[in-house]
Amino acid sequence: MTALSMTNSPKISIKGLAKSFGRKVVLDGVDIEVAAGESLVIIGGSGSGKSVLLKCLLGLLKPESGSIEIDGEAMTGADKTTRERLRHKMGMLFQGGALFDSLNIWENVAFALNEGSGRRRTTRAATRKIAIEKLAQVGLGPEIANLFPAQLSGGMQKRVALARAIAPAPEILLFDEPTTGLDPIMADTINNLIVASVQQLGATAVSITHDMASARKIATRIAMLYEGTIIWEGPADRIDDSGNSYLDQFVHGRSDGPIKLQVRAL
Ligand SMILES: Nc1ncnc2c1ncn2[C@@H]1O[C@H](COP(=O)(O)OP(=O)(O)O)[C@@H](O)[C@H]1O
Ligand SMILES: [Mg+2]
Repeated sequence: MTALSMTNSPKISIKGLAKSFGRKVVLDGVDIEVAAGESLVIIGGSGSGKSVLLKCLLGLLKPESGSIEIDGEAMTGADKTTRERLRHKMGMLFQGGALFDSLNIWENVAFALNEGSGRRRTTRAATRKIAIEKLAQVGLGPEIANLFPAQLSGGMQKRVALARAIAPAPEILLFDEPTTGLDPIMADTINNLIVASVQQLGATAVSITHDMASARKIATRIAMLYEGTIIWEGPADRIDDSGNSYLDQFVHGRSDGPIKLQVRAL
């Protein structure tokens, strides 16, 4: 590959991605590219396949067809070593935070640091110090370092999860519903922290959400997932005059429009 094509290749390229569970088709040919340094937010209704898409990207789910490339390198179909190496370029904030109940706060943050470090050995005290620095970046003080997740509020747990995601300084950050379950003020704080963290790392970000306030705050570009494909994508400031009736209905939260709630009798 020439230097020119390297610089031109998108950070993430997803082509024709398909994923089903049994007979249920969730992703039906998703095409999307993310440029380096961009913050893409994928919006879509509950159950539209947003989490499944992120899990495919992270290599946690195996798509039936289609391709995922990171920095021009194929992740789908690659050997385990390549997949692991590409996966270590990514940090993820899981829906619900997904902290380990049995580890204290600094150990939770340090978890991702140790995971990718190979043979590097640092003392427990040194690792704790780094974890505390990462906590400070999301506005948390050292006094919580030895507490356990259950002892923190939902908003603080979310901050810890964010600190864990950014700790290894990943090139790509993935956020799954970062504001779900938070009050509007805490949600805004988390959105601001996400924007600041992504900028500070110079990372490429992909977030998924159904929270439009969050999407507007975080995104440079927005894509909408509906019935297994991306039905609209464009700059974040174009969502109010997109001329797309599906996007329009979602953005304005109207029950009336082309998107019908699928209500099934039991
Ligand atoms: N591991 C799984 N096994 C079976 N079905 C799944 C699995 N993961 C997700 N699904 C189904 O895929 C659809 C999309 O789920 P998801 O991506 O979690 O939606 P959301 O857009 O709300 O994040 C849902 O119908 C869900 O039930
Ligand atoms: Mg989800």
